[in-house]
Amino acid sequence: LIRVSIQTASQSYDALIESGVLRSAGVYINELMPKVQRFYIVTVPKLRKLYGKHLSDSFKGLKLDHHFVEIADGERRKTLATIEAAGSRMVKLGADRNSVIVALGGGVVGDMAGFLASIYMRGISFVQVPTTLLAQVDASVGGKTGVNLEEGKNLLGTFLQPKMVIVDPAVLRSLPEREFRSGLFEALKAGIIQDARIFEFMEQNRDKILAREPAALEWLIAESVRVKASVVSADEQEHGLRRILNLGHTIGHALEAETEYKHFLHGEAVAWGMVAAAMIAVGLQLTDTRTAQRIISAVFSYAPLPKVDVRPKAILKRLTSDKKTVDGKVHFILPREIGKVEVNSEVPERAVLQAVEELRYLSQA
Ligand SMILES: NC(=O)c1ccc[n+]([C@@H]2O[C@H](COP(=O)([O-])OP(=O)(O)OC[C@H]3O[C@@H](n4cnc5c(N)ncnc54)[C@H](O)[C@@H]3O)[C@@H](O)[C@H]2O)c1
Ligand SMILES: [Zn+2]
Repeated sequence: LIRVSIQTASQSYDALIESGVLRSAGVYINELMPKVQRFYIVTVPKLRKLYGKHLSDSFKGLKLDHHFVEIADGERRKTLATIEAAGSRMVKLGADRNSVIVALGGGVVGDMAGFLASIYMRGISFVQVPTTLLAQVDASVGGKTGVNLEEGKNLLGTFLQPKMVIVDPAVLRSLPEREFRSGLFEALKAGIIQDARIFEFMEQNRDKILAREPAALEWLIAESVRVKASVVSADEQEHGLRRILNLGHTIGHALEAETEYKHFLHGEAVAWGMVAAAMIAVGLQLTDTRTAQRIISAVFSYAPLPKVDVRPKAILKRLTSDKKTVDGKVHFILPREIGKVEVNSEVPERAVLQAVEELRYLSQA
């Protein structure tokens, strides 16, 4: 069992990572919170069918009271209405202020279950059991919760750190190939921003990773979580350092929004965003062509990626209206070396336009 500890000002907790750990989830949770008697497993129907029994058996073995709270699946249902329905269901099932929520699912479930936990009876505890690679390496750690509004993604939300994160790479076996690859780009990002070993591991072990070999995934996930943990520990609420987690996300978010969230999965858009960041960094002489080329090759080795077919000007326009530009500047995270990035708010507009143009060009190759 690999244990990664996450220390923030508001709370410290562990991520437990091991293939098959889902069947022992109850034991670890019970060890951490021996007084808690009632657990509410927030999940979607599909995951309840696939893994609900593993989880509930582990609670049953300890005679712990537990209930499933099913919510609608998908990004489009990541709304307050879904939260309200889940809240009502919990009241009907007898959840009180000492109950604990267990989020079993991808980033959508984790964000909603965390949000619900942060407001249910003014706040209860929750545990993350992420089931997508994206959620395992990224979304389940750090304490951001939330739902979408018609007007935009994640516009309502809170910070609430989970009490524990239980990561079972074995559940990734059922994840659709595209979702799996999409999550890998967030791991690659962790390598580029802070840990060259992750990057090199991904360069050298492509086949094992794509075959989802448990040992390879355990290592990759644990090290990616370590990166997220160290960044989040230093900057819980995203004032400064936490921004480096946004490598590839500046242009990535714009690509997702410009294509109405239908064309790219999140990680795929981030992958293109990292390619753009590498090219911008070379243009501004912040890194050498060899480093940029390594980044671009690593991204493409985990392709295919959906084509970039957007107007560069439209992307630029979106960048300047992104919610993360509150101080009026667009913050780019740009690579200097593998494992080292800088926050740069002086990227000229023409460099952005040129980078998007190059993404379009690369899409046609
Ligand atoms: N809180 C954060 O810090 C943070 C960070 C990154 C992303 N997010 C959020 O995460 C969300 C995206 O999460 P996601 O990429 O995990 O998508 P998701 O939660 O929508 O899951 C994708 C699909 O895969 C299915 N699925 C999940 N696990 C499975 C498994 N093991 N086997 C088979 N199918 C499975 C789900 O039911 C869903 O249909 C976005 O809403 C994003 O805003 C949050
Ligand atoms: Zn991301």
